[in-house]
Amino acid sequence: VATIDVDLTSIEPGQRVTVKWRGRPVFIVHRTEALIAQARADDANPNLIDPAPDSTRVQRPEWLVVVGVCTHLGCIPLGQSDGDPRGPFGGWFCPCHGSIYDSAGRVRKGPAPRNLEVPPYVFQDDLRVRIG
Ligand code: FES
Repeated sequence: VATIDVDLTSIEPGQRVTVKWRGRPVFIVHRTEALIAQARADDANPNLIDPAPDSTRVQRPEWLVVVGVCTHLGCIPLGQSDGDPRGPFGGWFCPCHGSIYDSAGRVRKGPAPRNLEVPPYVFQDDLRVRIG
């Protein structure tokens, strides 16, 4: 399927859902104020492996949309299916070789070389997003 429409109505703040797009998982996070602040606080962190301000990673601060595939060798990071962020940065932990991602999907500990990919998407209205 080239595009999918996702209804965000029932996703509460702090909640995470996974949808499938082009055979890959896409992680959607309804970010809380705390998660947004945590991401922004690290915008200028000199230790970012793949530097990118949070504002370049999201169209709307409360919604993070990223492809849930580790940029190292393609495992699916943990911290999504059970709704609990993993690792110290409010994001995900890749069980294959230990990469850690933050609440903007930025890689914070390798071996992953790049941030989680942001897929193309557009908001149809406040609570509907089209991915693809
Ligand atoms: Fe994720 Fe290697 S595939 S760390």
